[in-house]
Amino acid sequence: MGLCFWGYALILSLFLNQISCQEPNTDGFFVSEFFKHMGLSSAQAYNFSAPFCSWQGLFCDSKNEHVIVLIASGMGLSGPIPDTTIGKLSKLQSLDLSNNKISALPSDFWSLNTLKNLNLSFNQISGSFTSNVGNFGQLESLDISHNDFSGQIPEAMDSLVSLRVLKLDHNGFQLSIPRGLLGCQSLVSIDLSSNQLEGSLPDGFGSAFPKLKTLNLARNKIHGRDIDFADMKSISSLNISENQFEGSPTSLFKEALEVADLSKNRFQGHISQVDSNWFSLIYLDLSENELTGDIFKNLTLLKKLKHLNLAWNRFNRGMFPRIEKLTSLEYLNLSNTNLSGHISREISDLSDLSMLDVSGNHLSGHIPVLSTKNLVAIDVSRNNLTGEIPMTVLEKLPWMERFNFSFNNLTFCSGKFSPETLVRSFFGSTNSCPIAANPTLFKRKGSATGALKLALAVTLSAMFLLVGALVFVAFGRRRKPKSCEAKDVSFKEEQSISGPFSFQTDSTTWVADVKQANAVPVVIFEKPLLSITFSDLLSATSNFDRDTLLADGKFGPVYRGFLPGGIHVAVKVLVHGSTLSDQEAARELEFLGRIKHPNLVPLTGYCIAGDQRIAIYEYMENGNLQNLLQDLPFGVQRTDDWSLDTWEEEDNGIQNIGHEGPVATWRFRHMVALGTARALAFLHHGCSPPMIHRDVKASSVYLDQNLEPRLSDFGLAKVFGNGLDEDITNGSPGYLPPEFLQPEQDLPTPKSDVFCFGVVLFELITGKKPVEDDYLGEKDTDLVSWVRSLVRKSQGSKAIDPKIQETGSEEHMEEALKIGYLCTADLPSKRPSMQQVVGLLKDIEPKTNQ
Ligand SMILES: *[C@@H]1O[C@H](CO)[C@@H](O)[C@H](O)[C@H]1NC(C)=O
Ligand SMILES: *[C@@H]1O[C@H](CO)[C@@H](O)[C@H](O)[C@H]1NC(C)=O
Ligand SMILES: *[C@@H]1O[C@H](CO)[C@@H](O)[C@H](O)[C@H]1NC(C)=O
Ligand SMILES: *[C@@H]1O[C@H](CO)[C@@H](O)[C@H](O)[C@H]1NC(C)=O
Ligand SMILES: *[C@@H]1O[C@H](CO)[C@@H](O)[C@H](O)[C@H]1NC(C)=O
Ligand SMILES: *[C@@H]1O[C@H](CO)[C@@H](O)[C@H](O)[C@H]1NC(C)=O
Ligand SMILES: *[C@@H]1O[C@H](CO)[C@@H](O)[C@H](O)[C@H]1NC(C)=O
Ligand SMILES: *[C@@H]1O[C@H](CO)[C@@H](O)[C@H](O)[C@H]1NC(C)=O
Ligand SMILES: *[C@@H]1O[C@H](CO)[C@@H](O)[C@H](O)[C@H]1NC(C)=O
Repeated sequence: MGLCFWGYALILSLFLNQISCQEPNTDGFFVSEFFKHMGLSSAQAYNFSAPFCSWQGLFCDSKNEHVIVLIASGMGLSGPIPDTTIGKLSKLQSLDLSNNKISALPSDFWSLNTLKNLNLSFNQISGSFTSNVGNFGQLESLDISHNDFSGQIPEAMDSLVSLRVLKLDHNGFQLSIPRGLLGCQSLVSIDLSSNQLEGSLPDGFGSAFPKLKTLNLARNKIHGRDIDFADMKSISSLNISENQFEGSPTSLFKEALEVADLSKNRFQGHISQVDSNWFSLIYLDLSENELTGDIFKNLTLLKKLKHLNLAWNRFNRGMFPRIEKLTSLEYLNLSNTNLSGHISREISDLSDLSMLDVSGNHLSGHIPVLSTKNLVAIDVSRNNLTGEIPMTVLEKLPWMERFNFSFNNLTFCSGKFSPETLVRSFFGSTNSCPIAANPTLFKRKGSATGALKLALAVTLSAMFLLVGALVFVAFGRRRKPKSCEAKDVSFKEEQSISGPFSFQTDSTTWVADVKQANAVPVVIFEKPLLSITFSDLLSATSNFDRDTLLADGKFGPVYRGFLPGGIHVAVKVLVHGSTLSDQEAARELEFLGRIKHPNLVPLTGYCIAGDQRIAIYEYMENGNLQNLLQDLPFGVQRTDDWSLDTWEEEDNGIQNIGHEGPVATWRFRHMVALGTARALAFLHHGCSPPMIHRDVKASSVYLDQNLEPRLSDFGLAKVFGNGLDEDITNGSPGYLPPEFLQPEQDLPTPKSDVFCFGVVLFELITGKKPVEDDYLGEKDTDLVSWVRSLVRKSQGSKAIDPKIQETGSEEHMEEALKIGYLCTADLPSKRPSMQQVVGLLKDIEPKTNQ
C-alpha cells in the first residue's frame, strides 16, 4: 500500500516536473516543449527539472540564459517541428538535428538569424527550401543532405556570404543551379550530388569560389563544358560523374587536383599525354566517356596514382599502357578500352593492387603473375588470353569478392569452386557442366577406412610374413621405344605377368650421359629449400637399379626410393620422346604438380636430367588395384607402418583375416570405384580444358596409406605422349573403347575414359581380369562382353565376385554392374559423364555403420 503510494507520487511528480519545471518563454521551456512534441525516445537522458543548461547536447552562453548549441542527432525525433519551440532560441548558433525522422520545419524557423552551423541531414523533410534561408546571413555550414527537399535551390542563397560548407546532396532539387549560389564566395566545399539538377552551370561558376577545394555535382543532369571549370585553381577534389559534360577533360586538371571523377559524361578528344597539371592525381576516373585516340603514353609520371579507371572509352586499338612506376596503384580498370597485345609484365610489380579489370579487350598471351596480397577482384573476361591462370591467383580466388575469367582460352584446374561459380566466372572456358568441381564431392569418407585399415594391417602382416619378398609386379602395355633414341630404355615386347622384373630396363646408358649429377637440380614443389640433385636420385634408386624398380609403366619404368629428408617417392623416368623443349616440359610438370585432388597420386617434383624427364610421385604404400584384386604380392611394406596397438585394440573386422580381407568387401570395392570416379570427374569437369587420362585401368589406380584409391599418370599422356594416340589404338588389353577400332578414329575424349572406368568397375564387382580369365566357362570373350550379356539377360548376379557377395546389398552390386554397363556402351554419346557416374555411385553407397 505504502509502496504503491510512493510509486504513484514519484511518477506524478516527474510528470509535473516535465510540464512545469521550466519557466515559460525561456530557452529551457522551448527546448523541453520541442522534445516533448517530437516524441523523444531517450527521455531518460533528460531530467527536465534540472537546469536546462546541464541537459545533454545543450550548451549555453556564459550567463546560462540562452542556448547556443543544440545537438540532438539520432534521438528518434519524428514528425513536424511545432512553432514556438526551437524557432524561438534567439541566440542559437549551432543546430544539429541530423539522423531523425523530422518531416517539416516550423514557420518561425527562419528567424534563427544567429545560426552558424545547421545540420538537418538524414531526415524526411519535404517541400521547397524557401528563400527565407537568406535570413541566415551568418551561416558557415549548411547540411540538409539526405532529405526530400524539392523545387529550385533558392536564389536568396546569395546572402550566405560566410558559407564554407554546403551540402544539398541526396534531395530532389530541380531546375538549374541558381546564379545566387555564386554569391557564396567563401565556399570551400559544395555537394549538390544526387539531385535532379539540369541546365547548364551559371556563367562565372568556375571563378566564383576562390577557396573551393571540393566540388561534387555527381548524379544530376547538368550540361556543361570543360571551360566551366577553367578557373578553379584551388580545387583538389572534383566529382562531376553522371552528368552531361562535354569537351576535353584536360582543361579540368589543375595542379592541386588529387581526386577527379569525370566518369559517365560525354568528354571527348585525345588525351594521349599527361602534363604536369596531373601530377597530384591520386584518383582518376574517366570511364564511360567518349575519349578517342591513344591511351596516355606517359601515365607512369602519375606516381601518386592509386585509382585509375579508363574503362569504356573509344580509344584506338592500343598496347597496354606503361604502368611500371605506378607503385601506389591499387585499382586499375581498363575494361573495354580496345587494348591489344599482352598484359604488361610490370603489373607484377604493383604490390598494392587490389582490383584489376581488363575485361572486354583483345588482349592475348598469358596472365602475368600478380601480387595477390591485397587482390580482391580480378576480371579478365572477354579477351584472347591463353595459358594458365597463375597459381597464386587461383589460390586466392575463394577469398576474392569478384573474379571473372570467362571467354578466354585459359587453363586451370581446381576443385575449390562450386558449379555455380564455375559457370558464372569461367563461362566459355569449360564446355560441360562442372558438377565435379563441387567441393562436397571431394570430401573424404573417413568412416569406412578405419576398419579396413585394420583389416588390411592384419592382412599385410600376414602377407609380409608369407611372401617375404619386396616385390611389386608390373602390368600394362609394353611397347618399343618410339621416336626417342634407342639409348633410352628398352623393353621386351612380350607380355609377361609371370614374375616381377622380367623386362629389360637398362638405365646405364642414359644415366652415364648425365654429366655432373650433383649440379642437376631436382625440383621438389613443396620443399623448395631442400637442394636435392640428380645424384640424390641416383643414390635413392641405387643408380636406377632393377632392385628398386617398382613397375614398368606405359610411360616408362618406375623406381622407388627415399630422398634426403625421408621423402618416400616413386620415380618415373619418362621414356617417350617429346617435342617439348626442356623449358616447356618443366612448365608442364610444374602445372601437373599443382593439380591436387584426394583421389589423384600427387606429383611431388621433377628433374630434367640430360635428355630425360623424370617425374617424382608420392609413394603409394598399398600398391595398385590390379595387384590387390588379383591377389598378387605388392609394394614394399614395412612392419612398423602398422602399429600393433591399432589392431589389437579393435576387434571389428578381424574376422576378415586372410589375403582377401579388406579387398573382399563390397564396401571397399565401392569406395575404390567412387574415389576413382571422383578423380576422373575432377579431371574432366574441374579442369579447363578437360584433362583426358587416356589410360584408365586397374593398375593405374593406387591405394594410399589410408587405402583411399588414387589415380596415377594423369596428364602425362598429353605432355609426353607424342604418338600416344597410336598407343591407345593398340590399347591396354581389355580396356579398349570400341570407337578406337573405327577406321575414322576420333581423338580420345572424356567418354573414352568413361569406357575404361566401366571396365575397372566390372573388375571391382566381378574380381575378374579384363581379358584372359575364366568367364564361367564362356570362351573367347572378354570381361566387358561377358558382363554386358549377363546384364542384358538380367543375370547380373551371376557375375558378382563370390567373395564379396555376402558383404553387402546384392541389389546395389547389380546396380553397380548396370552403371558399368552404361559406361561401356558402344556409342560414346550413350555413356554417362563421370560426374553422372559419381552421382550414380553415391546413390548405392553402403551406409557407414553397415
Ligand atoms: C533531476 O534533477 C533534480 C535537480 O537537479 C534532482 O533533484 C533530481 O534528483 C533529478 N532526477 C533524476 C531522476 O535524476
Ligand atoms: C551532419 O550530420 C551528419 C550525421 O550526423 C554528419 O555525417 C555530417 O558530417 C554533418 N554535416 C556537417 C557539415 O558537419
Ligand atoms: C562521385 O560520385 C558518385 C555518385 O555519388 C560516387 O558513386 C563516386 O564514388 C564519387 N567519386 C568519388 C571519387 O568519390
Ligand atoms: C609525355 O610524353 C611525351 C612524348 O611521349 C612528351 O612530349 C611529354 O613532354 C611528356 N610529358 C611530360 C610531362 O613529361
Ligand atoms: C578499336 O580500335 C580500332 C583500331 O584503331 C578501331 O577501328 C575501332 O573502332 C576501335 N573500337 C572501338 C570500339 O572504338
Ligand atoms: C570498371 O569500370 C566499369 C565502368 O565504370 C565498371 O562497370 C566495372 O564494374 C569496373 N570494374 C570493376 C571491377 O570495378
Ligand atoms: C583472338 O585471337 C584469334 C587468333 O589470333 C583472332 O582470330 C580473334 O579475332 C581474336 N579475338 C579477339 C576477340 O580479339
Ligand atoms: C585455345 O588454345 C589452344 C592451344 O593453347 C588452341 O589450340 C586453340 O585454337 C585456342 N582456341 C581459341 C578459340 O583461340
Ligand atoms: C563474367 O563475364 C561474362 C562475360 O562478360 C558474363 O556473362 C558473366 O556474367 C560474368 N560473371 C560474373 C560472375 O561476373
